Amino acid sequence: MIINVAHTKGGVGKSTLATNLAVELTLPILDLDMQRSSFFFNQIRKDAGYPEMKVFYAQSDEEMAFLADYKGNRKKHIIVDSGGMDNNLHRLAILYADVILTPIGLSQIELLGLQNFYSILEEANDNSILAKEYVILNQVNSRSKKEIDGIKELIKKEFGLKVLNSMISSRKIFKDAFSEGKSVVEKQSKSASAEEINSLCDEIKKILKKRG
Ligand SMILES: Nc1ncnc2c1ncn2[C@@H]1O[C@H](COP(=O)(O)OP(=O)(O)O)[C@@H](O)[C@H]1O
Ligand SMILES: [Mg+2]
Repeated sequence: MIINVAHTKGGVGKSTLATNLAVELTLPILDLDMQRSSFFFNQIRKDAGYPEMKVFYAQSDEEMAFLADYKGNRKKHIIVDSGGMDNNLHRLAILYADVILTPIGLSQIELLGLQNFYSILEEANDNSILAKEYVILNQVNSRSKKEIDGIKELIKKEFGLKVLNSMISSRKIFKDAFSEGKSVVEKQSKSASAEEINSLCDEIKKILKKRG
């Protein structure tokens, strides 16, 4: 199955989550990000002698065709790291995806960003696209539970989108681990961030089972 980490907005944590998921779930990654974050992450892994990830690229519709093998395939999964830009390849990735994972932060501006991405999902005029969309709250600060619940409610009410139970807090370990070519679990398996990534992996596995 195809898990597309996607958002039109940059800097929300797509590459961070995509690489952490790929390492922890031992999955290949299709890097559509113009910044080639996953490629560089993997390069650091390689140089450091850690187990490499399988990284694919695509620059044309034809080069995306191999995804057909993964679509709806319960035995074969891939993570797609979409760049922030709204172009044909990213639209195609959204169409191909079995699950779309959209990281957003907790601010008002992030909700405007989500509105923009949502309008692109809507444009496809295909209800199955909204059904496979899951929002994940990332870079969450130590705010009150009440505020987090409020934002979750707003996303559900305004957009009718599902929000994952798993949340990822904002912690320096994400930057540090990435620059060392490690997942946060590899960097510090007993850390709070490792726990959060592990529970995200568990939740995604359940979703794949349900949607498969
Ligand atoms: N949970 C987090 N905690 C701390 N920093 C984070 C977290 N998620 C992302 N970041 C940082 O935010 C920046 C943007 O993340 P990135 O994954 O590159 O976003 P995108 O791929 O959506 O553009 C990076 O510097 C990354 O280290
Ligand atoms: Mg990125």
